[in-house]
Amino acid sequence: MIEYTSPMRIPQFAMERMQSTWENQVQYNLSESGVHPMRVEELLDDATDRAGMLGQELVYPQSNGTLELRERVATMYPGATADHIEVTNGGSEANFVTMWHLVEQGDEVVSMVPNYGQTLGLAEAFGGVLRRWPLRLSADGRRWHVDLDDLRTLVTNRTRIIILCNPNNPTGARIPAADLDGVCQIAGRVGAWVLSDEIYRGAELDGVETPSIWGRYERVIVTSGLSKAYGLPGLRIGWIASTPEVVATTWSYHDYTTIGPGTLSDRFARIALQPAMRAKILARTRRILHANLPVITDWLDAHKDRFSYAMPEAGAIVYARYHDAINSTELVDRLRIEKSVLVVPGDHFGMDGYLRIGFGSETRYLRDGLDRLADLLRSLPAPAAAHTA
Ligand SMILES: Cc1ncc(COP(=O)(O)O)c(C=O)c1O
Repeated sequence: MIEYTSPMRIPQFAMERMQSTWENQVQYNLSESGVHPMRVEELLDDATDRAGMLGQELVYPQSNGTLELRERVATMYPGATADHIEVTNGGSEANFVTMWHLVEQGDEVVSMVPNYGQTLGLAEAFGGVLRRWPLRLSADGRRWHVDLDDLRTLVTNRTRIIILCNPNNPTGARIPAADLDGVCQIAGRVGAWVLSDEIYRGAELDGVETPSIWGRYERVIVTSGLSKAYGLPGLRIGWIASTPEVVATTWSYHDYTTIGPGTLSDRFARIALQPAMRAKILARTRRILHANLPVITDWLDAHKDRFSYAMPEAGAIVYARYHDAINSTELVDRLRIEKSVLVVPGDHFGMDGYLRIGFGSETRYLRDGLDRLADLLRSLPAPAAAHTA
């Protein structure tokens, strides 16, 4: 890995740093968690949209997102209007301005883990005290789930915010509606906010949309965007859905970050979220997931002396436990250097012994990347004994 010597006042975001450094250098990037990105021409299949795009002046955009885009996003959240929505540069900026707004020195931040590392790092960066709420694995090792009793013990009068990632990165687990209500009830006792990052919503393998935190409690903030379930990460379009007061405030914070989303990106996002196009995009996502899930699960099953895993419910990622006696970062470094394949080590989620493998790419590419991983594993001593948890 690259050494970073300049002091930083924020924790290193290890996974993004690794991906930023290597994802475009390797031959097989299986570190991505969304489906293979769409091409511009797939979004512009309508002549009027094409002409509109070519005629678009490259003005500063409406900095919280055009009214039309905010209205389209609002339709996903019952009872929401454009005033409940702020458009950001990716889900990451939505998370950033939300955390910046809410977390102050000494605030307790309870986050489900494992989780996408951004909000965890930001909690610390803004002076919060992070308390980890671990997902639990069922006795048969096949399902990750939350435990509300654990949450009750972590939430105190100092808890400012409870963070969810639903569907979850890296496990692909969904939190059922009853548990979301339970989380809101626990938050309500101390007036904490609930931030639910729902960027994988819409990428469910069974086609049943993940229940949202939206509408379950007055202090909820949903962050989301087009990067994962929609396969449009290059647009850098995300959003916040919350109360008009929160959204008005985070918009002011946004003035200090990037001002607004790109003008072309806002326009593409309006096209992507037209009802017929949205349905087409999500159908494409499901097609990719359905084609590739058996490829990776067959592969894992064929190597069951080395791996165990819970079946993901959403997203294009499998979080697999491996049984070889090698540190996950070391394994990932060897895989990258010796085989030019990139996956994410469990170390990046604070869980050595796991690999997060993305399966949203083209099927041939996925198979070839997995073959190379198998080659590397063959060069390791056989694992002593398989365990399931
Ligand atoms: C849960 C989660 N939220 C946010 C992001 C970042 O989203 P974006 O690329 O839209 O900034 C990611 C990216 O991996 C993610 O996994």
